[in-house]
Amino acid sequence: MDRPLPPERRAHLRDGREVRIRPIRPDDAERLCAFHDRLSTQTARLRFFSPLKHLSPDFAKHLTSVDFVKRCAFVISPIDSDTIHAVGRYEGETRRSAEVAFVVEDTLQGLGIGPLLLERLAEHAREQGFTRFSAVTLGENSQMLAMFRESPYDAHIHMERDLAFVRMDIRPVAIAAV
Ligand SMILES: CC(C)(COP(=O)(O)OP(=O)(O)OC[C@H]1O[C@@H](n2cnc3c(N)ncnc32)[C@H](O)[C@@H]1OP(=O)(O)O)[C@@H](O)C(=O)NCCC(=O)NCCS
Repeated sequence: MDRPLPPERRAHLRDGREVRIRPIRPDDAERLCAFHDRLSTQTARLRFFSPLKHLSPDFAKHLTSVDFVKRCAFVISPIDSDTIHAVGRYEGETRRSAEVAFVVEDTLQGLGIGPLLLERLAEHAREQGFTRFSAVTLGENSQMLAMFRESPYDAHIHMERDLAFVRMDIRPVAIAAV
């Protein structure tokens, strides 16, 4: 029997608009391609470390077919449509650690979507038994690094050449402090 999808949530952005944080679904493949086609070259470069923007159908299928245990993705959509404006995902590396990545549509960056996705991913990952998130980002990516530094997860950031390696303890704060 198929597992039920994780629940959808609603949240407000810094400009007051309400959005849905919803689990990605296999029928999102075309919407995900359209989202990627709208990204600026710079946003695509910061996400993929290359100017890759257009997703092949096979890659879109891979990115939208997740098990919500070892691989998970949530997207941001308006209240009244399934259009994709942002994606946050994790991929399990070990039983306890998963790597996260985010991409927010250019016109909606700076409105707090990244932190909403991080929180939703962390909540879901904890339910699957994960205790740590990792991330690799370009050292120049001050927005991404600011988001991790300001998260409640005590981010450790290690710079090596032009890359930043991030580790976060996502256990509830009281347990993590023990
Ligand atoms: C990095 C990213 C995911 C953050 O998501 P977000 O929704 O923009 O996050 P926030 O709104 O919390 O913004 C994060 C910080 O960057 C700043 N910021 C975001 N967009 C900005 C912009 N276009 N210009 C200037 N500053 C910006 C915000 O002010 C905030 O800093 P602050 O907390 O000190 O105010 C998003 O900006 C993005 O998709 N960037 C391109 C792709 C990318 O870098 N992915 C990461 C690969 S792992």
